[in-house]
Amino acid sequence: MAGRLEGKVAFITGAARGQGKSHCIRLAQEGAKIIATDLCADIATVNYDQGSDADFADTVAQVQAVGGEILAMKADVRERSQLKAAVDAGLAKFGKIDIVCAHAGILPIKTRDTQSFVDAMDVDFGGVLNTVGVTLEHLTAGASIILTGSTAGLIEGSVNNPVLGPGGSGYGLAKAFIVKYTEVLALQVAEQMIRVNAIHPTNCNTNLLHNEDLYKLFRPDIANPTREDVLPAFNHFQAMPIPYIEPVDISNAVLWLASDEARYVTGVNLRVDAGSFIKSPTGI
Ligand SMILES: NC(=O)c1ccc[n+]([C@@H]2O[C@H](COP(=O)([O-])OP(=O)(O)OC[C@H]3O[C@@H](n4cnc5c(N)ncnc54)[C@H](O)[C@@H]3O)[C@@H](O)[C@H]2O)c1
Repeated sequence: MAGRLEGKVAFITGAARGQGKSHCIRLAQEGAKIIATDLCADIATVNYDQGSDADFADTVAQVQAVGGEILAMKADVRERSQLKAAVDAGLAKFGKIDIVCAHAGILPIKTRDTQSFVDAMDVDFGGVLNTVGVTLEHLTAGASIILTGSTAGLIEGSVNNPVLGPGGSGYGLAKAFIVKYTEVLALQVAEQMIRVNAIHPTNCNTNLLHNEDLYKLFRPDIANPTREDVLPAFNHFQAMPIPYIEPVDISNAVLWLASDEARYVTGVNLRVDAGSFIKSPTGI
């Protein structure tokens, strides 16, 4: 049986680990060829590991294990020239790009250093601009651009909450910008039959969530909170009684938006958040 993305080529950033890895595998399962990119290096203001070379190799192996084709290229989304090199290599290998998934992101809440604001904005919004910037000219009718936002971009208080620090504010602002950017960009390319949508996840089961600094944010009353300590607080964040969603829950939304099943869906900011927004539009 033909997959839901048979014959399509997807360009995905942040593909070494977490949700990006899951997107590569899920889209490949449905027949897409994958151009995967990742930084594969740490960022000084971020207090948890970014994807590694081994993680990226595992993405390649898992895509191949489901019968998919993949080109993996290291590229920092802050550097448009690196992304362009990946696009050029992907076009040389697969001939076109139909799906763009601007997904790479960081949450630098380690320090009070204002560099963390710069880094969050550069990766979380600048990276989106750069990804669109290098791919748009190659897209044709039927193409789908999918941006990764966050419930942080929708709820109030994520840009001016002192607890989040400069990096948290940068993260919230970058994600808030994605909301409007999605709608305005969608309008620019609608006539060409190109679609633009954003997905806004709630807490998702990846390293971005499971790290010391995030745990301390949710449990400031405990010196060294463990996963068990934060689960009740994580649960409280969603309306549905779960602590977090899984990467594949976002991948399934990416799959739908990437497919022709969503051919008239554009300019949409789609929450996949187990009801966190409707529960608490004013934040945690
Ligand atoms: N995990 C959550 O709770 C959550 C919630 C809402 C939104 N998000 C968003 O999901 C996206 C990815 O998060 P994740 O949960 O998969 O986290 P993750 O940390 O597991 O994965 C992020 C990936 O992006 C890569 N990356 C980081 N900086 C990069 C750069 N400059 N250039 C290229 N690649 C880079 C990392 O190496 C890593 O492989 C981000 O945009 C994030 O804001 C996550």
